[in-house]
Amino acid sequence: MFTITVNDRVVTSDRNMKLIDFLRDVLRLTGTKNGCSSGACGSCTVIVDGRTARACILSLDKLNGKKITTIEGLSDREKEVYAWAFAEAGAVQCGFCIPGFVMSAKCLLASSPDPDGAEIASALRGNICRCTGYVKIIGAVRLAAMMFRENTPIPSHNFTGRLGEHFHRVDAPEKTLGSGLYVDDRTVPGMLYASALRTPYPRARVLRIYPGLALVHPDCEAVFTAADVPGNNKIGHLAHISDWDVMIHEGDVTRYVGDAVALVVSRSKESLDKIKSLVRVDYEVLEPMTSPAMSLAPDAPKLHERGNILSREHLRRGDAEGALEKSAHVVETHFSVPFTEHAFMEPECAIAMPEGDGLLMWTAGQGIYDEQRECARMLGIDPEMIHVQGHPAGGGFGGKEDMSVQHHAALAAWLLKKPVKVLLSRDESIRIHPKRHAMEMDFTVGCDDNGILTGMKAVIVSDTGAYASLGGPVLQRACTHAAGPYNYQNIDIEGTAVYTNNPPAGAFRGFGVSQSAFAMESSLNLLAQKAGISPWEIRYRNAIRPGGILPNGQIADDSAALRECLEKVRGVYEKAATAGVASFFKNSGLGVGLPDTSRCIISVEGGKARIRTSAACMGQGVATVTTQMVCEITGLSPCDVIAEPPDTRRTPNAGTTTASRQTPFTGESTRRAAVMLKEELARAGSLSALEGREFYAEYLGETDPMGCGKEFPKSHIAYGYAATVAELDDEGRVTRVTAAYDMGTVINPKAAEGQIEGGIAMGFGYALTEDYPLDGCVPTAKYGTLGLFRAPDVPEINIHFVRGPGELDIACGAKGVGELATIPTAPAVAGAYFARDGKLRTKLPMDDTFYSRGDRPRSPAPR
Ligand code: FES
Ligand code: FES
Repeated sequence: MFTITVNDRVVTSDRNMKLIDFLRDVLRLTGTKNGCSSGACGSCTVIVDGRTARACILSLDKLNGKKITTIEGLSDREKEVYAWAFAEAGAVQCGFCIPGFVMSAKCLLASSPDPDGAEIASALRGNICRCTGYVKIIGAVRLAAMMFRENTPIPSHNFTGRLGEHFHRVDAPEKTLGSGLYVDDRTVPGMLYASALRTPYPRARVLRIYPGLALVHPDCEAVFTAADVPGNNKIGHLAHISDWDVMIHEGDVTRYVGDAVALVVSRSKESLDKIKSLVRVDYEVLEPMTSPAMSLAPDAPKLHERGNILSREHLRRGDAEGALEKSAHVVETHFSVPFTEHAFMEPECAIAMPEGDGLLMWTAGQGIYDEQRECARMLGIDPEMIHVQGHPAGGGFGGKEDMSVQHHAALAAWLLKKPVKVLLSRDESIRIHPKRHAMEMDFTVGCDDNGILTGMKAVIVSDTGAYASLGGPVLQRACTHAAGPYNYQNIDIEGTAVYTNNPPAGAFRGFGVSQSAFAMESSLNLLAQKAGISPWEIRYRNAIRPGGILPNGQIADDSAALRECLEKVRGVYEKAATAGVASFFKNSGLGVGLPDTSRCIISVEGGKARIRTSAACMGQGVATVTTQMVCEITGLSPCDVIAEPPDTRRTPNAGTTTASRQTPFTGESTRRAAVMLKEELARAGSLSALEGREFYAEYLGETDPMGCGKEFPKSHIAYGYAATVAELDDEGRVTRVTAAYDMGTVINPKAAEGQIEGGIAMGFGYALTEDYPLDGCVPTAKYGTLGLFRAPDVPEINIHFVRGPGELDIACGAKGVGELATIPTAPAVAGAYFARDGKLRTKLPMDDTFYSRGDRPRSPAPR
């Protein structure tokens, strides 16, 4: 018997178990989140006898007689202060990490009531946040400290909700205090637990599966194989390329170590691993294809029926060859970038359960209608029979676009007619979901004597791993953006996405553009040197401006503000002792002629305007965006507006949260619905007079397909632009980043800053420390070895918002920034090192930097 005190209550357990399981599963204190189960992320931080501790590595036998405080155990005053301070500072995005930060902050403030930024950062170094870049979290802790010291009353809210106001995120308090429910925080009576048995071999023939021993385990409910899938055993985010096996059939060949061979269902969570270990599988182990070069060899085995090439792109405009021949300066460079892992804080989880003749699913992916479509296809049933309710996601960054757990939960619940939860362990998450593409890139770029770009050629080969996922569109975006946001017309860009037996690669913040931006911007630094002008100057001379023609032929609209971005950072760049600069762009929306529609209903119910769209919030705050849009248009108070969570029975299809599209697309469909509501409000006089009315609107972003033959095709409805300067100190540490962003109308400045700071921190990792090493196609990283930046590593970040001369005619002029936030960082940092030692680093993460000397964790940077 173990006895501990939790939040001043004495509790006992006759079983030894991990503290986190005792808190979450037995006491139902779900504010303590499980991000990694391995002591690496800090999301499970609690206080044990006055000191912070990780609930995931402590077991009850080590805690007998100890006093434990969880987020739920804060005093009412502490709860009010932290909830206010984190909302006011804009420190909450997906929120999964925040209760852990609050507990670390509480411990710090108990001993140091007036800490400075460096002290706070140091105290928070055990807590990882993948969304915010830590700046706002440190600000929130300072604010909370001040409020505690000065006994400041909680200021009363008086928000109008209008655009540009620092309106508090609607979900900030519940996320700060851990009371918001992520999928794994929920249970259902009679719920079963399922987990997939996965192949240990990246490429092996599954000869025979023996579930017999597992089936006689007393907790085993069922063991399913591919033969049990009633509909289509192939899924895939893009309906026309469904090549991903729900499970591998006996006789078929695995394609990576995430492939499921059997699905085990247990009546007890604790028994799952044991039951899985009892399923025996005979394999014929085959040689894996570890690289695109190996897959493209003439005698390589075919990994898919269609062969080993997923897609090809060839973009041609003007005469690149001729332009390069006539150029005064030409640089030719090979660049190499690795797979990287999203490392979102919340591991994937889904619950499915019977509802009428169909299923109800609780999920946290990037699009409930994608989940509905793919699960229905697998089950061979009408999509309408699957009712999906989206939950807050603890981050995604593209890594939750594909099915990971949803289809397995749906399959088990459908076959058993019982509720089933599927939760990935952190190690499974690292192995299974698609990564950022590794790419090999050859870039040839030329300019004239004045540094004016003349032409470029590029050959890009992406390793798309085992399955298609979004590898085709990612390659396409890498190619369409490869020439940069510059005003020249001679391009020849070839791309090939190649299947291998590595984990699949797919969407990841930047969607291929992070890779090609690194190559193009680094090439510009070399060209500037040859032309005898500064890296800033070469960008400014070539920067696209409204009415100019981008290399893909699209005419830049009046909102384009790349030159303004560069002007904004010029002073900092020129005054810095050692600095690099990069500028880039990123599309909003799917573009290239693809159907891309967002829909919104505003209904008046219970005297409130209820915004109903299926747009998934991965932490970016779409509910806050739509709320502010409605307040702006209608003049309603935010108290009268409620943004509903995604639900296929309530919220119309707003499309996937991808391609930086939800702010402009769902922002516009919401704006249109709000205009209708406003007109009716003017007639009716009050919201209550419109009780029961619904206002429906949609927005279709019309663009031209690739190769449509138009001279000036409109590839995307809009582009956002940015320019970033990274400064180094004498030791080679990044000390400051100054970035200017053109994201059109800024709906919520604090939230936008936070999203950009998080993107920049992610960009630092991409540039300097993050990697996803593979050993014969098998990932070897743990969460703690991915190279993620921690609070003391992040330098000073200064964000500026700039606007072009005109405004986009949708969403009150707002463009997406989610991906652009990350893209220029790596090339800016590479440029800074180039300026420092003249060595162009062509691989990521970069070698020979302050951060690559094996001294992780790194020294705190001054702030
Ligand atoms: S869940 Fe405990 S440190 Fe990550
Ligand atoms: S807000 Fe910190 S991980 Fe999302």
